[in-house]
Amino acid sequence: MQLITTQSAMQSISRDSHNAGLRVGFVPTMGFLHEGHLSLIGLAREQADVIVVSIFVNPTQFGPNEDLDRYPRDLERDKVLCESCGVDYLFFPAVDDVYPADSSVFVDENKVSSGLCGAGRPGHFRGVLTVVAKLFNMVLPDIAVFGQKDAQQAAVIKRMVRDLNFPVEIVVGPIVREDDGLAMSSRNTFLSADERAQALWLNKALQLAESMVKDGNSESLAIEFAMLNLLDKKAHDIKPEYIAIVDATSMKPVNMAGEGILIAIAARIGKTRLIDNMIMGEV
Ligand code: PAJ
Repeated sequence: MQLITTQSAMQSISRDSHNAGLRVGFVPTMGFLHEGHLSLIGLAREQADVIVVSIFVNPTQFGPNEDLDRYPRDLERDKVLCESCGVDYLFFPAVDDVYPADSSVFVDENKVSSGLCGAGRPGHFRGVLTVVAKLFNMVLPDIAVFGQKDAQQAAVIKRMVRDLNFPVEIVVGPIVREDDGLAMSSRNTFLSADERAQALWLNKALQLAESMVKDGNSESLAIEFAMLNLLDKKAHDIKPEYIAIVDATSMKPVNMAGEGILIAIAARIGKTRLIDNMIMGEV
């Protein structure tokens, strides 16, 4: 595996790969890798010949009071993990190369990104889309793999790729969970033992929603109420930010949950913000 730090080196590797008839698969990350990230690398390997993973803690997607400074970082450990998963190139650009000091062009989307996390984190998706557009132009991938864990992010990126005609196929991989159901996240490292135990109730609230839909109680309001009630009773340190029952492509709220509908939750536990979601299966 090679560590690449400049845009010019990265682009020439991709151009050479394309000229040799090889497909470039790309997994963008902010590092501190876990099994969730590695599963996306596995998916990329199934569909592409040359695998590029980027690690870039993107400052523009963090709000002024968010955790940019304390976001966990461990490049040496990430290198070992990438190497063991068959990554060919680890792209690790410098902040100044990604964002010239007088940057003045950004990518904005104002429909799919306006609710859910977009409502509570103004500017977040502008930062995500801008960096993903830049990374696509630096890595020149044929396919790029994102996680369902960040369902709204995947939907917003798909919209950008469609509306700005990026020549890249977006693949979305399923959420990887710990054995007890907690969705893997680089931020789980911030949780105390008690907070981690309470965090499990996020997934349990989603399972409650699923069982309600199976039992024919599909009204969104009733599901949201039951989920909030469960969290209130079982995990009083969890402060829900939103529960959203939405169309999985447009992120528009729906009155009734059912097959293909996304139920997403965001909550704070202490200083940590966690998200989880589930797409309803056939009922
Ligand atoms: P990061 O949080 O590092 O996540 C990188 C990718 O891993 C994202 O596509 C995310 O959805 C996926 N992922 C995270 N946890 C997962 C899990 N438990 N199971 C499956 N996939 C999971 O998301 C970002 O970075 C950034 O916003 C980025 C797209 C890199 C732009 O800066």
